[in-house]
Amino acid sequence: MAYTVPPLTDFSPEALAAAAAELQAALMQESAAVTAAELEAFRNRWMARKNGILTQVNELWLKGSPKEAKREAGQRVNELNKLVTAHVEATEQRMQSASAAGQLYGDHLDVTLPGTRQPLGAEHPVMRTMHEIASVFRNLGYSIAEGPEVETDFYNFEALNFPPNHPARDTQDTLFIAGQEGKALRDRLLLRTHTSPVQIRSMMQQKPPIRVLCPGKVHRNDAADATHSPVFHQVEGLAVDENITFCDLKGTLDHAMKMLFGSSVKTRFYPSFFPFTEPSADMQISCIFCNGKGQRDGGPCRNCKSSGWIELLGCGMVDPNVYNFVDYDATTVSGFAFGMGVERIAIMKYGVDDIQLFYNGDVRFLEQFA
Ligand code: PHE
Repeated sequence: MAYTVPPLTDFSPEALAAAAAELQAALMQESAAVTAAELEAFRNRWMARKNGILTQVNELWLKGSPKEAKREAGQRVNELNKLVTAHVEATEQRMQSASAAGQLYGDHLDVTLPGTRQPLGAEHPVMRTMHEIASVFRNLGYSIAEGPEVETDFYNFEALNFPPNHPARDTQDTLFIAGQEGKALRDRLLLRTHTSPVQIRSMMQQKPPIRVLCPGKVHRNDAADATHSPVFHQVEGLAVDENITFCDLKGTLDHAMKMLFGSSVKTRFYPSFFPFTEPSADMQISCIFCNGKGQRDGGPCRNCKSSGWIELLGCGMVDPNVYNFVDYDATTVSGFAFGMGVERIAIMKYGVDDIQLFYNGDVRFLEQFA
């Protein structure tokens, strides 16, 4: 028998509580059994202004109550109002989400189907390589420093001993921020071409001894091809102290390369030029594809053009001129610096044949590093 609201003769608190409990039990029972098609009728039965159960409760239990029971009955009816409204709404919501699930899964939810896969993110190979390099140098006692990507001419060039109009500037063309003609050359902004400005910033902040590693994004006017990108990443290293020699530079880099590429890798240093180091060198490592033999699979090794060596980074002893820009005493300190392209190292470590793969965002490529 469906529930109907009984008129009360006894308005004592006990009688009111019993009547309310009966109503509540009916509500629970009906809401548990209601189907989607009956939902509207269910709401009307309980909440319709005209003759809904709540309206009847109001009429019979509140308006029909004697004066001395009004207070108690009012509280009860109020409570029931809240309870019924909340419960009808919750029932509607439950049916709605069940019907959304029904649309997804059909009438039946097949719990044996595989779940929706939530792919896990993974570190980008360039970032992973950068972190790996950083951890090698952290273990050697280097701290990490970062600097701005939009840099002034002073930090990017002048303090690194690239005087205005020096031809070495041509090797590092970049984007210059427009409309700065009113400023002195050294204050003009550009996108940094290397991480070396962070050397300068670090030395200005800290007296020797100093050992810092500066990872970051850099920009050059280079057309994109398989080995070049106008935006790429570098890691710069700097060590300044008393009595630092080229031997320290060689030992440090040789150790770092063995940590990155395996203990059988060899290094060698070739004379080179950078305005801020003197002497300067390019460091090469023995080709990790042919083990330095120059030959692979019975033919010439393409990766090292049969030479057995691959050029990997630039380095050198900090030019004493640089110390003058940062207020270090060039007569008592010495140091070395090095800078490497992160993509270049990632290409070698992972055998990637096109630098553009790092930037295209093709998930099939990136997934291989997950
Ligand atoms: N900054 C140089 C470049 O980008 C690399 C370098 C760094 C060379 C430190 C020597 C010392 O080409």
